[in-house]
Amino acid sequence: MARPYSSPCDKQPRVLKGWLSEADVAHFKHIYRTTVEEALANRKDRMDGNRPIQYYDLLKYMHTCRVRDARLKDIIEKIHHRVEEEFGPGFVIVHDFWSYRAPGSFPAPIMHTDPAFWMTGRHDGFNLWFLLDHRDMAYGIDVLTKEDNEELYACSALGLPHAPPFLFAGSKGKAGGECPAFVHRIPLRMWPMLFEWQNDLAQALGTLCCIFSTWWLQKAVSLSKRLQDALPAWAFRGLLGIFGWLGSIYPLPPLTLKPRHFELQVGDAQVIRQDELHASDQEPLREGQFRLAIGFKFMKSSESSPVTRYLVNGPSATLRRHIRGLKLPPNRPLPDIYRMDEVDMAQDKPGPFSRAVGVPMGAKLGRFIAPEK
Ligand SMILES: [Fe+2]
Repeated sequence: MARPYSSPCDKQPRVLKGWLSEADVAHFKHIYRTTVEEALANRKDRMDGNRPIQYYDLLKYMHTCRVRDARLKDIIEKIHHRVEEEFGPGFVIVHDFWSYRAPGSFPAPIMHTDPAFWMTGRHDGFNLWFLLDHRDMAYGIDVLTKEDNEELYACSALGLPHAPPFLFAGSKGKAGGECPAFVHRIPLRMWPMLFEWQNDLAQALGTLCCIFSTWWLQKAVSLSKRLQDALPAWAFRGLLGIFGWLGSIYPLPPLTLKPRHFELQVGDAQVIRQDELHASDQEPLREGQFRLAIGFKFMKSSESSPVTRYLVNGPSATLRRHIRGLKLPPNRPLPDIYRMDEVDMAQDKPGPFSRAVGVPMGAKLGRFIAPEK
């Protein structure tokens, strides 16, 4: 058997015990209650209890609350300090995300790696996923670890280390127990740099590229999912083997996926490595079970590994395109936005060209309400 793909992440720890104190956890929970939960309660569309991942809520809070939250600043500084001790110098937070799991709420339902990691071409990034609260859910999200899934990580179809894979496992037990899974390698491109400039024509052109690219890739994935259900495994894999590259889709050979979760206590952090696929745990939950976490994506910022590629679509990319302080100019190192005194969280107003082509990828920032401290 071929050897699994290896990377600098392989030596990273799995769980960091007790990185947040009780007071730290209480502060994060207070911020969650007064920003996300109160805003959710005021929404007309409650999404039937599902709370999908949304990025930069904490950063928006940091830079829009009326009085600067010094306590939060200290916690962020403490986390950076411990990251430097554990992982080495130069790592910065790229974005934050709340993760709320409960019956009917799946923050990240598809097995995936995070495309944002691939913007600089490095392979040593990680998420720290801090458990803040739970009822009967003292564990983290599901991970396909390399040690438990050597066969999967030895597959060239996965696309590692060149592109971030999303994995669509399909129905279990179909075609004699085979798993006719396929991989969608998320493309990162140069053209989204059109959004980095304060130029209406460039942004309109970028929007057009975005519409076409998103339409094409979504069609390719949804067609593949339909064929996955309709065709025998051998025919499905054969078809994708010939035509799949057109939609960045590649078939996997029959294999068994072995997801694993790690036990955590409140205040612990699960380390989610850049190149390991992960997703919300899928087991049915009892009424009343829930789990709240906050995640931080860490990537190394250096002159020798600047931003060279951009995400084509997705919620974090959409926010970066529209919020001035989140823009990532090409060939520049990642900025340390969580330790800056000022980040401009205002949105660019679309000019006449951008309005003409619509703003279909527009950020939906309605659910964030900054509290009055
Ligand atoms: Fe993720």
